Amino acid sequence: MNDPGEYSRRKFLFKISLLVNGAVGAVLAVPVLGYVLGPLLKRNESYNYWVPVGNLEQFPAGETRMGQYRNPDGTPADGQTRNLPCWVRHIENNRFQVFAINCAHMECPVHWFPASRLFMCPCHGGVYYENGAVAAGPPPRGLYEYKYKVVGNQLMIWAGELPTLSTEASIARPGKSPCQG
Ligand code: FES
Repeated sequence: MNDPGEYSRRKFLFKISLLVNGAVGAVLAVPVLGYVLGPLLKRNESYNYWVPVGNLEQFPAGETRMGQYRNPDGTPADGQTRNLPCWVRHIENNRFQVFAINCAHMECPVHWFPASRLFMCPCHGGVYYENGAVAAGPPPRGLYEYKYKVVGNQLMIWAGELPTLSTEASIARPGKSPCQG
């Protein structure tokens, strides 16, 4: 015959073990859930994010100036390296082009020369017109361009994904594939 005291002690220990197992399971589930849900949460908070490039006064109409934005996909520990440059061309009124600073050939940063109204790449002599289209050299296509919008006095760009081919300058050069050097 079972001892009632023994039975209730077993029942108590069983409940305690369930409680401990549940607590351990919950602790182990936190990193797993973080891994699974992290990209979704990240996408909402910082990925695909509109970020300011500067005030409109910084970009006079008819000129191309360097802009800067904070990489929305970085961390506070990135410090100054989170600040990224881009080229802003203010065409007129609320019409802009915002270019990635990297050459479409092998990613070197291109420089703007206002006197000739050309972007030039120091690495292999790539040259681009002010609208981002290729003028000369090895680049197989125009500069990459960010989507933008004007909010109040701020120029914003969509910086959560790679910039796309320039709308005006996206046409690949005749006889050049994007992979050719
Ligand atoms: S990287 Fe610019 S021309 Fe090659």
